[in-house]
Amino acid sequence: MYVTSSRPAYQMAIFSTRKLLCICIFSFSLLSLAYGRVNPSFRVRAVNLGGWLVTEGWIKPSLFDAIPNKDFLDGTGLQFKSVTVGKYLCAEAGGGTIIVANRTSASGWETFRLWRINETTFQFRVFNREFVGLDTAGNGIDIVAVSETPGTSEMFEIVRKSDDLSRVRIKAPNGSFLQVKTEELVTADSKGDGEWGDDDPSVFVMTIAGRLQGEFQVTNGYGRVKAPQVMKEHWSTFIVEDDFKFISSNGIDAVRIPVGWWIASDPTPPPPYVGGSLLALDNAFSWAQKYGTKVIIDLHAAPGSQNGYEHSSSRDGSQEWGQTDQNIQETVSVIDFLTARYAKNPSLYAVELINEPLSPGVSLERLTKYYSAGYDAVRKHSSTAYVVMSNRLGPADPKELFPLASGMQGSVIDIHYYNLFSDVFNSMTVQQNIDFINTNRSTQLNQVTTSNGPLTFVGEWVAEWQVRGATKEDYQRFAKAQLEVYGRATFGWAYWTLRNVNNHWSLEWMIKNGYIKL
Ligand SMILES: *[C@@H]1O[C@H](CO)[C@@H](O)[C@H](O)[C@H]1NC(C)=O
Ligand SMILES: *[C@@H]1O[C@H](CO)[C@@H](O)[C@H](O)[C@H]1NC(C)=O
Ligand SMILES: *[C@@H]1O[C@H](CO)[C@@H](O)[C@H](O)[C@H]1NC(C)=O
Ligand SMILES: *[C@@H]1O[C@H](CO)[C@@H](O)[C@H](O)[C@H]1NC(C)=O
Repeated sequence: MYVTSSRPAYQMAIFSTRKLLCICIFSFSLLSLAYGRVNPSFRVRAVNLGGWLVTEGWIKPSLFDAIPNKDFLDGTGLQFKSVTVGKYLCAEAGGGTIIVANRTSASGWETFRLWRINETTFQFRVFNREFVGLDTAGNGIDIVAVSETPGTSEMFEIVRKSDDLSRVRIKAPNGSFLQVKTEELVTADSKGDGEWGDDDPSVFVMTIAGRLQGEFQVTNGYGRVKAPQVMKEHWSTFIVEDDFKFISSNGIDAVRIPVGWWIASDPTPPPPYVGGSLLALDNAFSWAQKYGTKVIIDLHAAPGSQNGYEHSSSRDGSQEWGQTDQNIQETVSVIDFLTARYAKNPSLYAVELINEPLSPGVSLERLTKYYSAGYDAVRKHSSTAYVVMSNRLGPADPKELFPLASGMQGSVIDIHYYNLFSDVFNSMTVQQNIDFINTNRSTQLNQVTTSNGPLTFVGEWVAEWQVRGATKEDYQRFAKAQLEVYGRATFGWAYWTLRNVNNHWSLEWMIKNGYIKL
């Protein structure tokens, strides 16, 4: 097959000229014995270890249980409706000027994203990314959203009514409370000591419009003292040696391990992150070695967040990765560090440079720049590890990385296939979902699978859908169809994920309950 013909060329090209001389006198079979990791017909059947070294609250909600004041974590989106004027607080023009209270419905400009300073003190980020604060350049009591670097003038407390948590007052840094004087004038000069009635201009009805539950939220939520204990407990219990035993005895030969950029500065990562995830990754590598499992390291969270989701450890939904050369260089250093550390471990199979960068926020030009440098960083330490490049989410051509990746030996394109996250799946029946795999996904996969291009990897998929009330047999057929189609990906596939409180998202549960058999 096409893969067979391209692999020996790869094997040769990555050796130095000096080695090449020797290699030429050996046969290819000897070569593949010596460099067994490069096997043309082999495809990984992998599982992701999601929610382990990069937190995702929906995978293990209990991790957040003991956070004090846990409704107010970083990135929580709050909306405030004034009880006196009956309208929402709004950063006029999305930010950069005054705060008003004249909007009848709430959306982007009316949503304030929290930065948590501690369990009682917060900063509010507006749509255009400025922070709400006192108008220190003016009269000192008007509320504005002009600061790009929040300080003490941007710190607020949220005081909830004890018997109705949706009614709140907002205490400004000068000790006074916000009040709505008119629809166009919001000031910090109320005593805030009334009866919480509908005639009190300091009272707002608060709506929680969105939450993030990622690594930033859990560590900053617990704070410096408790976070290290909680995270160490999580890392040492969520994935253990027995899991490697389980997967290797159930037909899974590789793990894709999401990691965050802070792992490279273990044991003292920048706050709020805490040290210890590197030790957990070391353990994974030794268990992998013991059970003959291959490891794909996956940089799931890059500094600044490449997609604004909690799974890339975004603080407040912003996507800021890749905007400066320094940020890209910092990310390359993380890849360099990880590859150097595990290059000699026989289980290291591949390094994924970044997971799911989001278009258009991450431009193809910036991404290409990073992928080139990241590829070189891997090759500096390993000639055999595959280098995986994730396609962009959002509007992007699925073959856009081909010009770059085709020139790189041992490159792999990662594509994620979920029958979710798009309205087209909302009303699909069981059979329509299965047909979609057999027809549409199959076509999509064919489009990115070429004889001289990069290998293809369905690095995330799951036997879950929008169908409600489906039977076990329905799920079995759905999983089987996906296994069959994704089995044609030339690098392999990886289920999302091994363990999850949502049963169908847990490969462990799916195997133990007979939904999936490999
Ligand atoms: C809200 O007030 C601002 C400031 O006066 C004004 O520019 C804007 O047009 C008002 N918006 C609405 C919907 O009334
Ligand atoms: C929270 O932070 C504010 C501002 O730094 C500080 O005044 C306050 O004492 C802190 N509260 C707690 C509970 O640490
Ligand atoms: C908040 O600032 C306003 C204006 O400077 C002032 O009138 C008010 O007394 C301040 N509140 C406190 C508690 O300092
Ligand atoms: C799936 O493929 C079929 C056949 O090519 C096409 O008619 C259909 O529109 C596709 N469905 C979606 C949701 O893209």
